[in-house]
Amino acid sequence: MTTTAIAPTNIAILKYWGKIKGQYHIPTKSSLSFTVEKLCSTTSLAAGKGNMKIDFTLNGRKAKEGSKEHGYVSSYLTFLSETLPFIRNYDYQIVSENNFPTAAGFASSASGFAALLKALAGELDEFSGLRGDDKKLSALARLGSGSAARSIPSEGGFVKWDRGSGEDWEKDPVYSSYAYSLFGPEHWPELRIIYATVESREKKIRSLDGMAESVKTNPLYQAWVSHEESLLKNDMMEAVSKKDFEVLAHMIMQASNSFHSICHGTYPPIYYLKPKSLQIIDAIHKLNDGKVKAAYTFDAGPNPVIITRKKEEMEVLKLLDELVGEVNLFRTRPGTGPKYSKKHLL
Ligand code: PMV
Repeated sequence: MTTTAIAPTNIAILKYWGKIKGQYHIPTKSSLSFTVEKLCSTTSLAAGKGNMKIDFTLNGRKAKEGSKEHGYVSSYLTFLSETLPFIRNYDYQIVSENNFPTAAGFASSASGFAALLKALAGELDEFSGLRGDDKKLSALARLGSGSAARSIPSEGGFVKWDRGSGEDWEKDPVYSSYAYSLFGPEHWPELRIIYATVESREKKIRSLDGMAESVKTNPLYQAWVSHEESLLKNDMMEAVSKKDFEVLAHMIMQASNSFHSICHGTYPPIYYLKPKSLQIIDAIHKLNDGKVKAAYTFDAGPNPVIITRKKEEMEVLKLLDELVGEVNLFRTRPGTGPKYSKKHLL
């Protein structure tokens, strides 16, 4: 049999950047995101009895054994098999496609690992007890890539990944930290999300390595964590619940700036933003002079994601068009979580 899963990416408005317990990807703090419509990974997976031989094709290219891409999948399955030993009893044929630039800071790892886990969960009989349990699946997706945890909740929309608590981690390091939807996409239908591509080349410093360095070397790291965990997180959730765009937009931009200052304060410093990114930041602040119309947020890359509302979208698009060109803009909005499809890639 073959199972195909389609999982959306998500954009964090309160970022995840650092683990408490490295090996189980328990985050130092909670994060918040919007599930994104139309930007997704589609993964078809077929499993047969065997011993974890993996045949993996990504975006039409077969990943050789020993390659980086093959390594991501095989390390993830190996890691998963510590919790779910039956994973070792199969060989896998996996074909995956992203409909957006891989590794440009557009969180293809979020949709990629979420789609892979959903495909596995749909394909293997041994998953039957977990298949409908979004919280457990979210925790398992987290083991592939932290942000993937937030691409699992079926309702999608506005998602919170809870870091969990010390007691829970002791008892259950795997299932104690997971993401869930706070509001579905219908809660705030006026919201719009615009992805602008400044650069589509692969990023130089992977999130995995970058965040470990920030935790280790940035003297302001703990202050950042406690500010966001104890104040900003709650204020952001309240702003979304009240649909207060102005308040939310300010917090989104501040959170993005704080995240990048954490990267800059890492030693040696990590710079993800490019001159063009800074130009966009300035242009959005200028646009917002008087009335807040848009917010920018940047992940571990130079490409901005702009959050705005339907009534201001055209004005924002015009501005971005002048800065990066229309072909480099992708318009979307908050959407629902992953789905299964009957159209297979293999
Ligand atoms: O999911 P990872 O391990 O690639 O880390 C993602 C980190 C950021 O995208 C920068 C922030 C986030 O919360 O998505």
